[in-house]
Amino acid sequence: MEQANRNPQENKRPFDMDVKAIRAKARKDIESGAITDTYRADRETVLKLLNEALATEIVCVLRYKRHYFMARGLNAEPVAAEFAEHAAQEQDHADKLAERIVQLGGEPNLSPKGILDRSHSEYVEGNSLEEMIKENLIAERIAIDSYRQMIDYIGEQDSTTRRLLEEILAVEEEHADDLSDFLAKS
Ligand SMILES: [Fe+2]
Ligand SMILES: [Fe+2]
Repeated sequence: MEQANRNPQENKRPFDMDVKAIRAKARKDIESGAITDTYRADRETVLKLLNEALATEIVCVLRYKRHYFMARGLNAEPVAAEFAEHAAQEQDHADKLAERIVQLGGEPNLSPKGILDRSHSEYVEGNSLEEMIKENLIAERIAIDSYRQMIDYIGEQDSTTRRLLEEILAVEEEHADDLSDFLAKS
């Protein structure tokens, strides 16, 4: 059998790093914090998109809270517990997005004014337990699609933001799955 690595020289790529230049730039633009010259994404667009995601998460927290307190009827208990758990996780997403916005030199927009306009998902109260579950599932599906589009847009340009969005996306997929389970059982 032929060895995969016959000539180790073939796999060698030169790695030239101008440490002197990196040090000089790090010193010069110190007020930019975590943002250095090698940040390749369009910062303003990334900030706008993160603020929209932040608004989406806040609307989701409020919707889940409302549903948690209003869940009534047969089988309401496990569903309400799930709503409460999701609300806490959406709050965690909001916090992580706000943290990243600040790291990128922006400001998290937490103004209640216009929050629904900035949000991708909607705030629907729903009358029955089933309606609530459906509305949350719709909101999760909206979140899943918008996170996926944001991830596609960022591509390889900002790996930290991308990783954060991917982590959040995975949780939204779990949320949608939990809600579909309830609908299947009801
Ligand atoms: Fe979320
Ligand atoms: Fe979610």
